[in-house]
Amino acid sequence: MSNNDFYTYQAQTSPHPLGLEVSHAKGSYIYDQDGNAHLDFVAGVSACGLGHSHPRVVEAIKTQVDKYMHVMVYGEYIQSPAVDFSKLLASHLPDNLETTYLVNSGTEAIEGAIKLARRHTGRSQIIAAKHAYHGNTMGSLSLLGFEERKSAFRPLIPDIRHIEFNLESDLDKITEKTAAVVLETIQGGAGFILPKEGYLEKVRTRCTEVGAMLILDEIQPGFGRTGKLFAFQHFNCPPDILVIGKGMASGMPVGAFVASKEIMDDLQDHPKFGHITTFGGNPVIAAASLATLKELTETNLIQQTLEKEKLFRKLLVHPLIEEVRGKGLMLAPIMKSKEIADQVVMEAAKNGLILFWLLFESKAVRISPPLTISMEEIEAGCKQIIAILDQLKPTTVN
Ligand SMILES: Cc1ncc(COP(=O)(O)O)c(C=O)c1O
Repeated sequence: MSNNDFYTYQAQTSPHPLGLEVSHAKGSYIYDQDGNAHLDFVAGVSACGLGHSHPRVVEAIKTQVDKYMHVMVYGEYIQSPAVDFSKLLASHLPDNLETTYLVNSGTEAIEGAIKLARRHTGRSQIIAAKHAYHGNTMGSLSLLGFEERKSAFRPLIPDIRHIEFNLESDLDKITEKTAAVVLETIQGGAGFILPKEGYLEKVRTRCTEVGAMLILDEIQPGFGRTGKLFAFQHFNCPPDILVIGKGMASGMPVGAFVASKEIMDDLQDHPKFGHITTFGGNPVIAAASLATLKELTETNLIQQTLEKEKLFRKLLVHPLIEEVRGKGLMLAPIMKSKEIADQVVMEAAKNGLILFWLLFESKAVRISPPLTISMEEIEAGCKQIIAILDQLKPTTVN
């Protein structure tokens, strides 16, 4: 294959793709066509929590493919991978999060969640946070808290308001008119920003007071990345609707939203087919999701993320790193400048270490490795980052 084919025949998302030509991937490594191993500190942007081609997931997929693949649209036939996954998931969630709607991507799960909130409350207003990222279809894009990236696509869906994440005085903007407040439990694109102590609890209380639904987007921090199966379990703020995806199926395309049976039932009538999808709940992907959830909950991988975080924090100390934000294996060293962050990502790429950026925080370097990464791999990667910083040209630093 010529590299030009990629630029010509495949639609591009930016003028400067990284352009690594992949041969195969296993564990913490992606291998290029020349046989070079690239240590993966990004994990497909938080999607490969169990690393690449985890044997338990691969086996579950192969077993399912041999039985059947797509047989019917979502919601008509009883297909055990989807049922078993949804039941196991419910056993790890608070009682009100009992019923799962399986879809194809994170953004579709957000669409489903906001539709469900509007349908359930009979209200239209949705409140999201500034610098929020919830996906790229029209509804999710409407929630995006970054005008520069959405103004070209207006008009978007109406009746969206934004509040400042972590600003308690903004909570009185949540009123009896509000159908739902949609927040990332930990803000991703904004720079891996944690909720302040008590903030999400106060959002929860305010939503309950005014009858608005709390929708938490755990597409990125979910499935163990922050030391609990879901990040909201660190804070006292059970959502009415939980939105998940990314790491859920170890690298297969997926999303889901979870609510009480009573709330979810609103999508089945008046109008019926309130949300429908051909491939949602696909048995192969559900089998991968089930194997992933079993692996995460039957091993101590999730607890280990906090030990691994400590090692990252111990090693990522340098005068050019202002701070390290995030939690567990969702970490963002914030460099002294955007130029330094760019150089670190690009130099690392040349030297076999995969790093990436965050959407809206230009000084951040993304570190979201597989949860299965070893202590030795963390040490090797961090050593490279520090070496790159040590050698930065003075022009970049000043
Ligand atoms: C917090 C959050 N929400 C939603 C999405 C959208 O998910 P998807 O790309 O699967 O549509 C993402 C993806 O990066 C995300 O990080």
